[in-house]
Amino acid sequence: MMTRTSLLLLLTSSLVQSDASGCPSLAASQGCFCQFQIKAKRVDFSCNSTSLEDLLTSTETIADSQQVVWHLKYSNVSIGHFKKSLLGSLRANHFIALDCGITSIDQDAFSGLSDDLESLDFGQNKLERVPTPALESLANLDTLDLSNNLIETVHAEAFKGLKSLRFLSLLGNRIKFVDDLAFKGVGGSLTHLNLIGNALSTVPSKPLQILSDLQWLHLHENRITSLAKEDFSGMGENLEELGLASNQLEEIPDRAFAYLKMLNSLDLDGNRIRYIHPKAFKGIERSLEWLKLGENQLSAIPAESLRRLKNLMDLNLRQNHIEKILEDDFKDYGETLQFIYLQKNRIHTIEMKALEELDSLGWLYLSSNNLSVVSDETFQPVLDTLQAIDLSDNPFNCDCHIAWFRDLIRDKKFNVVNMGKETRCRTPPRLNGKSIASVSAEDLVCVEKASTGAEDSSPPLEDSSRGVKDSSQGGKDSSQRMEDSSHQFLACPSLVLLLLLTLLST
Ligand SMILES: *[C@@H]1O[C@H](CO)[C@@H](O)[C@H](O)[C@H]1NC(C)=O
Ligand SMILES: *[C@@H]1O[C@H](CO)[C@@H](O)[C@H](O)[C@H]1NC(C)=O
Ligand SMILES: *[C@@H]1O[C@H](CO)[C@@H](O)[C@H](O)[C@H]1NC(C)=O
Repeated sequence: MMTRTSLLLLLTSSLVQSDASGCPSLAASQGCFCQFQIKAKRVDFSCNSTSLEDLLTSTETIADSQQVVWHLKYSNVSIGHFKKSLLGSLRANHFIALDCGITSIDQDAFSGLSDDLESLDFGQNKLERVPTPALESLANLDTLDLSNNLIETVHAEAFKGLKSLRFLSLLGNRIKFVDDLAFKGVGGSLTHLNLIGNALSTVPSKPLQILSDLQWLHLHENRITSLAKEDFSGMGENLEELGLASNQLEEIPDRAFAYLKMLNSLDLDGNRIRYIHPKAFKGIERSLEWLKLGENQLSAIPAESLRRLKNLMDLNLRQNHIEKILEDDFKDYGETLQFIYLQKNRIHTIEMKALEELDSLGWLYLSSNNLSVVSDETFQPVLDTLQAIDLSDNPFNCDCHIAWFRDLIRDKKFNVVNMGKETRCRTPPRLNGKSIASVSAEDLVCVEKASTGAEDSSPPLEDSSRGVKDSSQGGKDSSQRMEDSSHQFLACPSLVLLLLLTLLST
């Protein structure tokens, strides 16, 4: 297999050369390849898993050809200390040196690249510091990736000179400390900062204040235990996306994001959040559209805090400890919600009018909860807009109250129901494990509860009541049965009315 691939590569590279392209011929044994992209008129050059000597020889050959290499890629070559001689007079637009065991970089190593280099990726190496002296001359650098190195501290002015830098990734290092002046020099240009997977215990707010153009800040997978009101001050005006997932937050305090007037997406998944201050989202009422609060420890929908969010579109509360959806849980902010994720909670009750304000709801996820009943009346307000609903993995009691849902599944009312999973009955015992869609209409009957009379104390046996129901409704189709059950709802008042009318007419 390997030999076939290399043969193929060999073939393509020799074809390329005959194409009068910019690729000089390289000794095939050296594991370095030059490719000419005819359409884009670009030369790409890569060395993977070669010896340092072979890399040097091939690089020199390419450099001698005077080409500006579009993608220059070294991977899995044991480099260690990166010297200027590794690049010689080579010029490149994008330079990637992955997994090369790089521990340090000569101050002048990239001096030949300063005019052309747009992106630099030194991921998966062994750098313990940001190599500032080597980077300083790269005035046209747009993207710098130092992910998966061993950096513990981001020192003052670590990125000075990088006047055009917009994207910076420090993902997967061991950063505990960021100097207050760490980003001095890139404050006016940086738009994306990735600090995922480090060891920060607080939001590095002071250093972030310089970053007036930041649009995207990801702080997932750190060890942040609390947020303070001032954490995001100063940097605020342009931030659109903030990621704080998989930290150790327990509460969201008053005005935690108040300065972030443009914040559109906030990810707080996977923390230990138990409390959200009613004014936690003050300042971002108009801008926030995406809010993730999944995998936390909320025991109720934090409605008081959410009411202010007038443009919220996507609310994720999956995997919390929520037990009930209350009548006013979506009041005052529900009209714009399109996606609600509530799966893996402990919901056993959805109050009658709870969904009434959800005028735009398209996707509702309620799987893996503790629902034994879902009433027609509760869901009626959203049936017109809903495109997908997931009620799978709930302990449903399959009686007349669920007939409407069975009919919806059968009629394919939604584009997607239960995301391909079956919704099954838990009770009564004779229907345990049966898919609701497959239960016959005759089986979805209600055990009549006598509201007066002496029989109250001894509920009728399921089988006998079933017999009674069957004989009275046996021949009717399910939609009629649904009507019947809603008529039953009105039976008492209309009876009284009838009685009154009869009395009056006599
Ligand atoms: C290098 O080559 C190996 C196979 O020898 C391959 O698995 C790996 O993905 C390559 N690495 C890069 C960065 O191209
Ligand atoms: C890295 O290169 C060595 C040879 O230098 C090889 O044995 C190893 O499989 C390579 N690893 C990867 C991930 O390509
Ligand atoms: C499910 O709800 C019932 C009440 O309807 C409650 O007794 C039971 O403990 C709940 N189970 C779980 C796993 O929350």
